[in-house]
Amino acid sequence: MNQDDAVLTLGATSLIGGALTALPERPALICLSRAPPASAPPNTHWVRADLTDREWPANLADLKAARALALAPIWTVAPVIDQLADLGVQRLVAFSSTSRFTKAASPDPAEREVAERLSRSEARLIEGCERRGVGWTILRPTLIYLEGRDQNVTRLARLIQRFGALPLAGDGSGLRQPVHAQDLAAAALTALETPSSAGRAYDLPGGETLTYRAMVERIFEGLGRRPRILALPPQVWRLGFALARPFLPGASAQMGARMEADLIFDSAPAKADLKWRARPFRPHFPAEAASQDPPRKSQPPSR
Ligand SMILES: NC(=O)c1ccc[n+]([C@@H]2O[C@H](COP(=O)([O-])OP(=O)(O)OC[C@H]3O[C@@H](n4cnc5c(N)ncnc54)[C@H](OP(=O)(O)O)[C@@H]3O)[C@@H](O)[C@H]2O)c1
Repeated sequence: MNQDDAVLTLGATSLIGGALTALPERPALICLSRAPPASAPPNTHWVRADLTDREWPANLADLKAARALALAPIWTVAPVIDQLADLGVQRLVAFSSTSRFTKAASPDPAEREVAERLSRSEARLIEGCERRGVGWTILRPTLIYLEGRDQNVTRLARLIQRFGALPLAGDGSGLRQPVHAQDLAAAALTALETPSSAGRAYDLPGGETLTYRAMVERIFEGLGRRPRILALPPQVWRLGFALARPFLPGASAQMGARMEADLIFDSAPAKADLKWRARPFRPHFPAEAASQDPPRKSQPPSR
């Protein structure tokens, strides 16, 4: 690995990290994980580290990096800005989430807490970077998917494969902008190399705005199936969800309530500054991609 220009990558085993390490053209990566993979992708060097452990920088020994990508939850990154600066980091691109806005007024206190935590962590990260002279950019994706790995779109694909049909709460008229992890990985590298994006936060919605129902239809198509969607009255959906709840870890009844709400964001600033060109929503599931269990996740499904 050419270490001179290597990018320190926090959360390298995330969905975005998986897409990033697979990019054919990218810089060398120094990847942090609490559980590094058994076989490392080319041009990566893995370091075992837990960001909540105060001593984690010692695990890097004499490795240095001037640039860092933070793909781990922003609340694990915001408290370690001083340590990053001490390691020589001068430029940081960190991921937050549009849930900061979409969950802020949720009737579910746990979801409101997620929104507040994102908001507090963004502010803390900005304060730390500005105090230490680290150039920061915050990227806020909408619903992320990576076929076979995510807990949003792939979870729906697995339910479709299992039951052959999918129930919606109401007519599923709420608008969505699912975004592919590969597009986010490319945008993170672009931001890292775009000095004018320092000191700014960008929403990164997917390349197509479609209703929740149309999103589900595309998942059926991606599985090579004809859509079979049951539009249930919301109270019937809630009852069914309550019964299925033990089999849907991390799922929340608010997901049903949101199926008729628009969760959409403006891509114009990212298009102008980061040449953001996200793909339309056409997921494709090879036979094994939707059937295997996704890897463990550090946070619940977001939509
Ligand atoms: N999934 C979505 O739909 C969605 C939507 C909007 C925004 N986001 C944000 O986008 C980013 C990437 O999301 P994702 O879904 O791809 O992530 P993810 O699959 O949940 O992965 C989280 C990553 O954070 C790392 N991590 C967590 N706690 C850590 C700790 N204490 N020390 C070191 N590493 C730690 C994990 O590393 P190890 O387990 O290997 O240690 C893992 O690589 C996150 O900031 C997320 O909040 C996600």
